[in-house]
Amino acid sequence: MVRHFLRDDDITPAEQRQIISRAIALKADRFAAQPLAGPQTVALLFDKPSTRTRVSFSVGVTELGGSPMVIQSGESQLGAKESIADTARVLERMVSAIVWRTFAQSNVDEMAAGTTVPVINSLTDEFHPCQLLADLQTITEHKGDPAGLTVTFVGDGSSNMANSYLIACAMAGMHVRVATPADHQPLADAVSSAQRIAGETGASVLVTDDVVAAVTGADVVVTDTWVSMGQEADKAARIATFTPYRVTPELFALADSAAIFLHCLPAYREYEVDAAVIDGPRSVIWDEAENRLHAQKALLEFLLTA
Ligand code: CP
Repeated sequence: MVRHFLRDDDITPAEQRQIISRAIALKADRFAAQPLAGPQTVALLFDKPSTRTRVSFSVGVTELGGSPMVIQSGESQLGAKESIADTARVLERMVSAIVWRTFAQSNVDEMAAGTTVPVINSLTDEFHPCQLLADLQTITEHKGDPAGLTVTFVGDGSSNMANSYLIACAMAGMHVRVATPADHQPLADAVSSAQRIAGETGASVLVTDDVVAAVTGADVVVTDTWVSMGQEADKAARIATFTPYRVTPELFALADSAAIFLHCLPAYREYEVDAAVIDGPRSVIWDEAENRLHAQKALLEFLLTA
């Protein structure tokens, strides 16, 4: 049966460990896997802008022996003149996998329901699971086994990154804290899924508006932009809401003295994070960006050979 990766818990904790371990191996030996030899084509659909996702999937598909086909929003019939279901039926006749960055999670759900090839969520409004594979690879490289470590996401708890952090890090056995204003809560479904998984993996889950308590003692501190794609009209209000959640050097100093800092990028210095932190010695953002390539190659190999 075809496997999709639409949200973080579409794989098991053991499969997550397997993919991250494989990503680390593929980083050391870039052309070791050729599951797309032929070359087979992977469709990369983008309804939102991207630098890292477009480049990492394009390079990754090529390094796996395949051919990437980027289709930007407005360049195909999808959405305007043709349904998701009909598009899924057409694409499966020609491509080996579909990667889609879009708005509603229901879009990728509908694509996956209508096709026999793997569908990968490369960011929706609700989840960003490919980013979490890269982040967990980065945490593993810098801190060892993530299980038992404490990770604190600071900022917009209602964002796709917060939802994915809750689930993916619970799967990895981490103590996950989300520090966010009370009126910016994560999806209830993401919290309940993370809590259920935490019961199996030894993880724990905390959502709080107390940013000082949430960062204190953390091994990993993470934030993301306060103004995501589609939220530009609310920029001034969102900056006012989230300014108490900026990762300043003073806030980061409350974390463990060996804590690392992650940000999925693009970043807005002096808004969600000060330059002294994101450009400081314990920031690992460039490894994190590079690991999109390796983690997604491992994911593609996993889905194509499942
Ligand atoms: N982190 C991330 O998804 O980056 P892009 O928006 O550039 O793809």
